[in-house]
Amino acid sequence: MKESKYLTIKEALEGTATQVNLRGWVYRERKSNKFVFIVLRDGSDIIQCVIPKSKTPEIFEKAKKLTIESSVKISGDLKKDERAPTGYEVSVTDLEIIQIAEPFPITEYQSPELLYDNRHLWLRSRRLNSILKIRHTIVGAIHEFFRKNGYYEFDAPIFQPSMSEGGSTLFEVKYFKDTVYLSQSWQLYAEAGIFSLGKIYNMGPTFRAEKSKTSRHLSEFWMAEMEAAFMQLDEITEVAKDEIRFIIQQVLKHNRKELEILKRDINLLENYVEAEYPTIKYAKVLDILNNQYDMNVPWGKDLRTIEEAKIAEHFKVPVVVTHYPTEIMGFYKPPSNENPKEALCFDMLAPEGYCEIIGGSERSLLVDNMKERLRTEGEDPDTYSWYFDLRRYGSVPHSGYGLGVERVVSWICGLDNIKDAIPFPRTMLRKSP
Ligand code: 4AD
Ligand code: MG
Repeated sequence: MKESKYLTIKEALEGTATQVNLRGWVYRERKSNKFVFIVLRDGSDIIQCVIPKSKTPEIFEKAKKLTIESSVKISGDLKKDERAPTGYEVSVTDLEIIQIAEPFPITEYQSPELLYDNRHLWLRSRRLNSILKIRHTIVGAIHEFFRKNGYYEFDAPIFQPSMSEGGSTLFEVKYFKDTVYLSQSWQLYAEAGIFSLGKIYNMGPTFRAEKSKTSRHLSEFWMAEMEAAFMQLDEITEVAKDEIRFIIQQVLKHNRKELEILKRDINLLENYVEAEYPTIKYAKVLDILNNQYDMNVPWGKDLRTIEEAKIAEHFKVPVVVTHYPTEIMGFYKPPSNENPKEALCFDMLAPEGYCEIIGGSERSLLVDNMKERLRTEGEDPDTYSWYFDLRRYGSVPHSGYGLGVERVVSWICGLDNIKDAIPFPRTMLRKSP
């Protein structure tokens, strides 16, 4: 077997070769007195391989030893076979066993916790393989979207001296003789970056000590953020809508097969590419919830998951909600001039129960007001003096937002739990493997 002649299974399925060399792992095996059938996987796809005793008795004897996840090299004749899982079958003419795997700890029906305990092995499943491929497309699409629209990639430190999204979800890290925190957001540093580069973006690890055990919270996740000088709320909400449409378009272009494996409703996704997404104010949301759905949400409270879900379901497409109550928003979200009780901020809520996927705002230029807000949150405004410098040297209006990568992966893949949107999830209850 010549190493250079190996095709991936995907190449074999899509190409014209009738004799192929493949290598990978035994995904399924079935043995009878006359045949060994294996389904081979190599990450790119799966393919059925057959080893008949009558034609190749020596290979048949070898193949009888194969277990799930054994690693092999195979040569054989490729032909169409409608009964095979991916439409082709390889009649094996040569088999090299690289390793006979020990009994695989994951069998067909397993509790979710066992699957998370064996995450390092469960990654090999077709389900995780499909999700990871879609995640790959989404991450690539985010970079492509911002780069083609003239944004520069800009990096911020992960070790940060202070909070940006509230002290209660900070992770403390011993830093030589001091304490620092893991990044909750790229934003404050991005606000410095725009004075150099104008329009910037980033995608990076983000940390929140979330005490909530919901299907939507991770303690380590990836956030894709943008920040732009001179832009205002009505502009960044449109950027966010375009970004989401572009991401879905790319997934539809590259991952139909994976979406089918995940049994995702592709029509819904196609609709999200075509549809207009409404922008409505928080006050209007309350109006709809309270008058059309008999809910009883008082002005001034943040929307809870059921309320977010209801409003997104009302429109059946992603919805941008703006002008949340200033008081419950982060210190950097500015009050609107018309009504200071309302902040110039937005969330994008995804339908089908996925709720908040993006949060953003204009950035306050009112230094005294921000200092006051920080003090009431128990923060020392002096720690933020560099941030306030940005309001002293050529200050301009600016805005930005952050998109939760795993929230978007979850929604596009139709997952029950955000933990499956990232290879090795970290939550309050899980920090290994
Ligand atoms: O709404 P958030 O907290 O906004 C910010 O951090 C801003 N500084 C972003 C900015 O303006 N540059 O977080 C943004 C998004 C949320 O909408 C959500 O999708 C995701 O990050 N997110 C989480 N995803 C998974 N697990 C968590 N614990 C998350 N917390 C936020
Ligand atoms: Mg938010």
